[in-house]
Amino acid sequence: MADSLLLPSLEIVQGLLQTPAHIAPKYFYDSVGSALFEQITRLPEYYPTRTERQIMAEHGGAIAQQVGAGATVIELGAGSCEKAKDLCQLLAPTHFVAVDISTEFLHDAVAQLRVALPGVDVRALAADLTADFALPHDLPQQRRLLFYPGSSIGNFDPAQALELLQRLRGLIDTDGALLIGVDLLKDQGILDAAYNDAAGVTAAFNLNVLSHVNRLIGADFELSQWRHRAFFNALESRIEMHLQARVDSVVHWPGGERRFARDESIHTENSYKYRADDFVQLLARAGFARTQVWSDDHAWFALFLARP
Ligand code: AVJ
Repeated sequence: MADSLLLPSLEIVQGLLQTPAHIAPKYFYDSVGSALFEQITRLPEYYPTRTERQIMAEHGGAIAQQVGAGATVIELGAGSCEKAKDLCQLLAPTHFVAVDISTEFLHDAVAQLRVALPGVDVRALAADLTADFALPHDLPQQRRLLFYPGSSIGNFDPAQALELLQRLRGLIDTDGALLIGVDLLKDQGILDAAYNDAAGVTAAFNLNVLSHVNRLIGADFELSQWRHRAFFNALESRIEMHLQARVDSVVHWPGGERRFARDESIHTENSYKYRADDFVQLLARAGFARTQVWSDDHAWFALFLARP
């Protein structure tokens, strides 16, 4: 297994020394960041989570009919496992595996899930999806459903997304499936608002990555010297998040430093938005030839059930 989960410092330092500097979005999710993300999902401006939930509420029966009872459900980026309970009640799986990068957050969530789902074999797996990861060896091989909700796939550029989808294809047999939530291209004003909420929660989430990095590499980022910036990049079909320096500064860590000029920024996230047709094609290129799509009335978000 690649060791970016065990040795994050090298990756972070390399990103900070580049121009423009960047920090990978997986570093948002320390326990404070995971809790802030939960708050984001309840913001009025942040439509993806509630829209995906609506699609599930409306079409969950049809999806369950396709998948059938007694599957092994593997949720990627499970976070609080809030969706997992509903999904398991719908699908009645034998096994459920919650995979997430935020270890502490995951273990609490899984403990609660075991109480809520007494008949299901519930497991927690701390893994970084950007690296190769292995599923528990004693997990049934047959009828695996990979559940990758929330448009987390949007953090990957299209080439990386293809590579990840190909790896996911490798985790299932021909009787398996992938159920994936994807944020769709839409009016730019709605996209911009979703990442610039009036309450400032997204700003706090973005800035928190600096305190996580301070702890991970022993750096001395001063959070008050940075501002949140998020905007839609139409050419790349993605929301970009950055942290922009309010003043000239030098950030130090054991063994290095980086000078930032006022207004210089650190790129912290991309969130790609897809056209449904394009995503179906991407799935096909990854080895998922048969795909069904469900969406909401505005076509803001879509759930794809993709089979080999
Ligand atoms: C978890 C990657 C789907 O891109 O919308 C939310 C993260 N960042 N607000 C997204 C996020 C800022 C979110 N994903």
